[in-house]
Amino acid sequence: MNKDTKFSLNEKKLDSILVIDFGSQYTQLIARRVRELGVYSEIFPWDTSSEIIKANNPKGIILSGGPESVTESNTPRIPEHIFNLNVPILGICYGMQTLAEQFGGQVRSSKAKEFGHAEVVLDQPSMLFDGFNIGSSIDVWMSHGDCVSALPDEFNLIASTSSAPIAAMEHTEKPIYAIQFHPEVTHTNQGIALLENFIFKICESNPQWRMEDLIEHRIQEIKDRVGDQRVLLGLSGGVDSSVTAMLLDQAIGKNLVCVFVDNGLLRKNEAKEVESLFKEKMDLNLVVVNAKKIFYRHLKGITEPEQKRKVIGRTFIDIFDNEAAKFKDEINYLAQGTIYPDVIESSGSESKEARIIKSHHNVGGLPADMKMELIEPLRDLFKDEVRKMGLELGLPSQMLNRHPFPGPGLGVRILGEICKDKVTTLQNADAIFIEELIKANLYDQVSQAFCAYLPIKSVGVVGDERRYADVIAIRAVETVDFMTADWAKLPHDFLAHVSNRIVNELENVSRVVYDISSKPPATIEWE
Ligand code: XMP
Repeated sequence: MNKDTKFSLNEKKLDSILVIDFGSQYTQLIARRVRELGVYSEIFPWDTSSEIIKANNPKGIILSGGPESVTESNTPRIPEHIFNLNVPILGICYGMQTLAEQFGGQVRSSKAKEFGHAEVVLDQPSMLFDGFNIGSSIDVWMSHGDCVSALPDEFNLIASTSSAPIAAMEHTEKPIYAIQFHPEVTHTNQGIALLENFIFKICESNPQWRMEDLIEHRIQEIKDRVGDQRVLLGLSGGVDSSVTAMLLDQAIGKNLVCVFVDNGLLRKNEAKEVESLFKEKMDLNLVVVNAKKIFYRHLKGITEPEQKRKVIGRTFIDIFDNEAAKFKDEINYLAQGTIYPDVIESSGSESKEARIIKSHHNVGGLPADMKMELIEPLRDLFKDEVRKMGLELGLPSQMLNRHPFPGPGLGVRILGEICKDKVTTLQNADAIFIEELIKANLYDQVSQAFCAYLPIKSVGVVGDERRYADVIAIRAVETVDFMTADWAKLPHDFLAHVSNRIVNELENVSRVVYDISSKPPATIEWE
């Protein structure tokens, strides 16, 4: 994002805490924690100009961690103009090390990285640890190689650990603090209390920031950038692209062209619901492309999971590209609902400005000859922030709190060859399972739930009749990050009821099984 064109919060005179980025994987998390505490926060690369930093109304500065070593001469340093702001500074990890080095202390390089939990003992009273007891210890998260080995002259030691004797330090006169550990990650107990001390007691910021301000801010940015030109958006009906659509709609109205591809692999009634919500209720400029037949034709005879994914992805790109070509001469911008975890997975740090798009992200990868400029207004937000924004923008909460749905859709939930009849059976089974989860108040207690269609037949007896028919697997998992997951221990009575309904209501299903595999070694999706 071009920081020069940013809408300045200065006009609103909102207090803000700016995060100066040295490239840590946790930088975004710092800004997010500050925003959670009700104070506006934004990230700026460490070499951002003094004018831009000043224009953003800093009440305090947090220096992030980073992958480099201050023991090497050509690594980043804190620019002088940051000190000239005369606002409180908190250095974290690399931020602490460069502070120490710039004030004349020493940093020791260590080949062995300390990564994980550590006990920090509080040695001296400090406003940063206000409310903590001297001599007590707190469990913190460390992730560093180097550490400060000699305090700079003007600094006092405030806390230590066995492996980092200088784990926290404070300037003797100025409000400059530094810590070796990461208060922004949840593994650091009382990390939030420490950030609160910095933000409210040391910086004296007021908690004035609200989601409405961020929305207004983003809308203004889009208006400034796009003017009266048109923007194309691939709408999937998922949370991220839907919130992106709502933001753009508020910014540019009918100049937003949303393309929704119905690939025939969506959940029951999903295509209709997306059309009715965005076209009829929200009055968006929505083009629905019915591509079911093309997808089924391309998938005919294909059973191997990776090949299916590739065919689905490629077909999606072809269709999207085809639609985009109809507007190509008139549209210079392509909007995407990229959110921060997508950026992390593809690049590791916001500073590197990497633009690799995950192959399954939103529109399934961008057409190779796409010359449009990208607009990604959610690029620095986390999923729950995006949900809050969506709620504020008027999207229904059922839609925002829906379980994740994979890009290739039911294509990876029908094992073996895909055809329209199997899709219909699976859609119906899945709709029964989800309806029952909602009725039993279990939907929000599991992270993801769905049915899968197995490529086998099994014998059953319905009434007096033998039935030789399909098998449906039901899957429900509990997870925080979807990287690991436990199978959900749903009540047996509930499972029995869902199984009965599926077998009784769907003629071509004779048996239902419950998936009791966790991830790892299984994955959440079956393919
Ligand atoms: P797995 O099956 O890898 O899934 O344990 C982890 C999470 O990712 C979702 N998933 C996908 N999402 N495109 C997506 O947008 C995909 O190709 C894809 N494959 C899996 C899955 O539903 C689960 O939430």
